[in-house]
Amino acid sequence: MTTYRIVQRKRDGQELAPDELAHFLHAYAEGRIGDDQMAAFLMAVFFRGLSPAELATMVDVMLHSGAVVDLTDVAGIKVDKHSTGGVGDKVSLVLAPLVASLGVPVPMMSGRALGHSGGTVDKLESIPGFRTDLSLDEYCRQMERIGCALIAQTDQIAPLDRRLYALRDATATVESVPLIASSIMSKKLAEGIDALVLDVKVGNGAFIPEPTRAEQLARTMIEIGERYGKTVVALLTAMDRPLGIAAGNALEVEEAILALRGGGPTDLRAITLALAAEMLVLGGAAPSLEAGRSAAAAALDDGRALEKMREIIEAQGGDARVLDDTTLLPRAPVRRPVSAKESGIIQAMDVRAIGAAAVELGAGRGALRAGIDSAVGFHIPAKPGHRVQAGDVIATVFARNDAGARRAGEAVCGAITIGETIESEPLPLVLRRITPA
Ligand code: URA
Repeated sequence: MTTYRIVQRKRDGQELAPDELAHFLHAYAEGRIGDDQMAAFLMAVFFRGLSPAELATMVDVMLHSGAVVDLTDVAGIKVDKHSTGGVGDKVSLVLAPLVASLGVPVPMMSGRALGHSGGTVDKLESIPGFRTDLSLDEYCRQMERIGCALIAQTDQIAPLDRRLYALRDATATVESVPLIASSIMSKKLAEGIDALVLDVKVGNGAFIPEPTRAEQLARTMIEIGERYGKTVVALLTAMDRPLGIAAGNALEVEEAILALRGGGPTDLRAITLALAAEMLVLGGAAPSLEAGRSAAAAALDDGRALEKMREIIEAQGGDARVLDDTTLLPRAPVRRPVSAKESGIIQAMDVRAIGAAAVELGAGRGALRAGIDSAVGFHIPAKPGHRVQAGDVIATVFARNDAGARRAGEAVCGAITIGETIESEPLPLVLRRITPA
């Protein structure tokens, strides 16, 4: 069957046989078809979904598009975390060194900015010199030596996800349960984990905003993990407001450093501790979630997590002095305060619009192979439920130039609804915990 016909059949809602789908995906991986047919296929999946059998094939082909890393030489139960993405989500930058500092190895392969959401890889690359493109050998050696590595999808590990991820980012095909599930699980299964904790975001800033569909996404990924013998636990967490205060690559690294020093915004710390507790229990380093949470809080407060981050940054070629002096991170030349236009209570935040404004500023990519600006973004201390007076500063824009700062300021202002009363309660930080059946 021709690849054209395969796209056509998917478009028309027919189920593809495993060999047809595998043939199509291999043809793309091997360069026999281009981005044009793959983009059309992704859009067809966006609208038609994938059957359980198609999803299983997709995960398997993506997983085996590169090496499946064997980390059996690394002592301990290897546990990673992955988030489905949101605005201001810098948790990985704190969580990975934190959990590794407590003796649980964390092999972490992350993504770049996707749609309106930021990406851990782009954030890490705002640290001068930091390399996320470790070779397979460097990755394994670093895992053996310091128990944590923070890398991007490479040509060697999950290369098909790397290409599909970038293509989805440029073709508005991110918000699909099977595409997100196959993307996340293929790279997580390839990186050498034994267990995984998922942070599945819910709310208007999430790719899958509704709690019931987010739960479906979580269960789909848990089932994929089970098929490959991995224990997967998911927390559904709030993304009806940005996480923490900073949104934008270097700004988020700065905020993550504050958290690694035992400070930072309380919501960032709370989510990090909840996820750390899960990872420590799965990794056999804590007998209960409560014990895991206390151990993690202690490691943030006494500097062990920060020192582990220093080891990671040094191992990956970065300038670890940023941990002591955050002015070494890229800085945007223009800062513009954004003031509330009226007095009242913050009723809601359009998180997706805030993320899109950050992309527009240059913090994310609008097109395949576009570059990003590490320095730009926002500080948004305002949260739903806060009372403000007209003229109060509710955000600060960090931009390359005045025109960009003005546009972004208007976008943020428009994304924050102020009214007389609280219309609906903000989501709890952690909505639900989902475990294998
Ligand atoms: N994170 C990923 O790795 N892939 C997605 O599709 C969404 C979030």
